[in-house]
Amino acid sequence: MSERGEAVGVIGVGWVGLVTAACFAELGHRVIARDIVPEKVEALTRGDVAIHEPGLTEMIHRNAERITFTTSMEELLEGARLLFTCVDTPPTYSGDADLSRVRAVVAELGEDSGHVLVMKSTVPAGTGESIRRDRPGLSYVSCPEFLKEGTAVADFMHPDRVVVGADAGDEEAADAVAALYAPLGEEGEILRTDVASAEMIKLASNAFLATKISFINEIANVCEEVGADVGEVARGMGADTRIGSSFLRAGIGYGGSCFPKDVSALKMLAGNTGYHFQLLTSVIEVNELQKRRVVGKLEKHLGSLIGKRIALLGLAFKPDTDDMREASSLVLSARLQGEGAEVVAYDPVAVERASPMLTSVEMADSAIAALEGADAAVLVTEWGEFRDLDWAAAAEKMARPLIVDGRNFLDPTAMAAAGFEYEGIGRQARPAPTKVS
Ligand SMILES: NC(=O)c1ccc[n+]([C@@H]2O[C@H](COP(=O)([O-])OP(=O)(O)OC[C@H]3O[C@@H](n4cnc5c(N)ncnc54)[C@H](O)[C@@H]3O)[C@@H](O)[C@H]2O)c1
Repeated sequence: MSERGEAVGVIGVGWVGLVTAACFAELGHRVIARDIVPEKVEALTRGDVAIHEPGLTEMIHRNAERITFTTSMEELLEGARLLFTCVDTPPTYSGDADLSRVRAVVAELGEDSGHVLVMKSTVPAGTGESIRRDRPGLSYVSCPEFLKEGTAVADFMHPDRVVVGADAGDEEAADAVAALYAPLGEEGEILRTDVASAEMIKLASNAFLATKISFINEIANVCEEVGADVGEVARGMGADTRIGSSFLRAGIGYGGSCFPKDVSALKMLAGNTGYHFQLLTSVIEVNELQKRRVVGKLEKHLGSLIGKRIALLGLAFKPDTDDMREASSLVLSARLQGEGAEVVAYDPVAVERASPMLTSVEMADSAIAALEGADAAVLVTEWGEFRDLDWAAAAEKMARPLIVDGRNFLDPTAMAAAGFEYEGIGRQARPAPTKVS
């Protein structure tokens, strides 16, 4: 593939920035990607990709000649006009989005650079307007990112929609951004809006998905009381095209770097305007309580958890990623230890990232090793390998073959046949069949 036009600039090579850099290179563009962490830049220059994301390492290696990683802002500004800003916007203690990294980038760009700041970081509505006010010489385009960790490369290359928001005066800049995405979809999939609407589309989308999750989790909790199965209920609900079947999987709550912070940022954004976003307050509360329900389920079977050995299967906030930000496993392990339990854990890829965050949790190097001698297991992350585990052999090794399936991932009948007492979320508990000798 031949190289196209001028280089694309990327600021911040974390999950979003690295995928953006790799995918634009794959589309044939030269890319200059800048990060402030020298070790990260050095590693990427050597071809070492520290992020676990299917297809990403191969894509970066395949396009190594088209991507330059640098710590230098000057090199970036000299080589690229469109600057895709992908720096982190973590939550502050109050739940607002912390925009200090975004502001640092703007400060480095100076008064008038002739550059286009393309905001991919998730920022509260109004951010673009305030940057334009501070830096009238800068063109500004909001281009929020919707990729999901675990399928980030595929999501970038096959987006449901690309949102390009610009205000009066920045039409040419928005055209240039839209042109970059043109090969990825049919006309119409690129949604042109004003900046504030683009910013709101991102926050509202994540808040809506989080709401769907908290809603089905509450339905699951009621299902447990009335003898219904939430999987069946979700199937019946999802068949209605007005509802749709996605994000109706009950479990132990959402986590990750986006939903918790974006829901809270939207709630705070509304609050700062004087509007109390009642619904989101409940969405957040339901999610927090859901993570803790596992403890009650274990106590129902085991009584006090003091001295009980509990195996956590999966630590990452979801499968196919090693991202531990706001993972349910963090809250759960702390709660279990708070109840006096001994916690052992296994994750196929996240142990390296998780270990410094879970210093008092014993890390096992296989699922079977984690289950050995355990009084119960909790499936926290639905990694494919857990479905293929020899559960009958695992049951033999456990002190008590009891499992709380926090993602409704395993087949309750098969688990009972393997000798397990099985508890899901919103499913009826199944005792293991009594062995006939
Ligand atoms: N991770 C996701 O799944 C996802 C999806 C959609 C949107 N987003 C949003 O995208 C943004 C980035 O998220 P992420 O998960 O990639 O974050 P991240 O923490 O993985 O990466 C951010 C990177 O920016 C770098 N950085 C910080 N300040 C910088 C500066 N001044 N110049 C250059 N680099 C700088 C950091 O060193 C880091 O490498 C956030 O606003 C997030 O909400 C994330």
